[in-house]
Amino acid sequence: MDSDHPDFSRVIEICRSYDASLLVDVAHDLGVLGPMGRGVLHEPGVSGKPTFVIGSFSKTFGCIGGFFASNSRAASYYVRGFSGAYTFSNYLVPPQIAAVRSAVKIVSSPQGDSLRSHVLSLSTLMRTTLASLGIKVLGRPSPIVLPFIGPEKLARKAYRYCLQNGVILNSVEFPACRKAEARFRLQITPRHSHEDVVFASNVIADSVSSAAAD
Ligand SMILES: Cc1ncc(COP(=O)(O)O)c(C=O)c1O
Repeated sequence: MDSDHPDFSRVIEICRSYDASLLVDVAHDLGVLGPMGRGVLHEPGVSGKPTFVIGSFSKTFGCIGGFFASNSRAASYYVRGFSGAYTFSNYLVPPQIAAVRSAVKIVSSPQGDSLRSHVLSLSTLMRTTLASLGIKVLGRPSPIVLPFIGPEKLARKAYRYCLQNGVILNSVEFPACRKAEARFRLQITPRHSHEDVVFASNVIADSVSSAAAD
């Protein structure tokens, strides 16, 4: 919800010193951030590995489902045996697995590199456009862009104006973030264009101004 991440090398080091396990959810970075889309954990300077990694197929991979991975065979067996969602649900069906496999192929191909760089350039463009229009944007460039709004009332009104003016977005407020720190959440995809991003930024800025003037 803040488009940020901790200093993983440091967190891993602290876990080691306390003999603690570390679970990292890579739902929002696997496939879209870091070298070859391998995520923040593979960015230069990040050393060490978390004990467990979980991820979702519902973002980059365009499907439902997800995964749990660990170097520990015991942990993998434990999760298989005691995870209710795993034991009492059905497996992914072949078309879903085919979709995820195709997405993985794209992610690790030169096409993946160009899709990622397009998304990141749009994200940077949206962040700078919003900033130039007086809207603070949280976190760091990623497919998720978070214009900060603040008071919930302002966010709700501005959200309505955005919808009325052709921009569908998610409005996030407490308890998903702190009170009076409402923000919008937009997700950029490779299908978006420069024009889309500039259009949405202008609608958001105008909507916030109109909501504040109400
Ligand atoms: C960090 C994170 N993990 C996991 C999920 C859940 O993904 P899903 O239930 O769609 O697989 C989400 C959904 O937005 C998420 O933001």
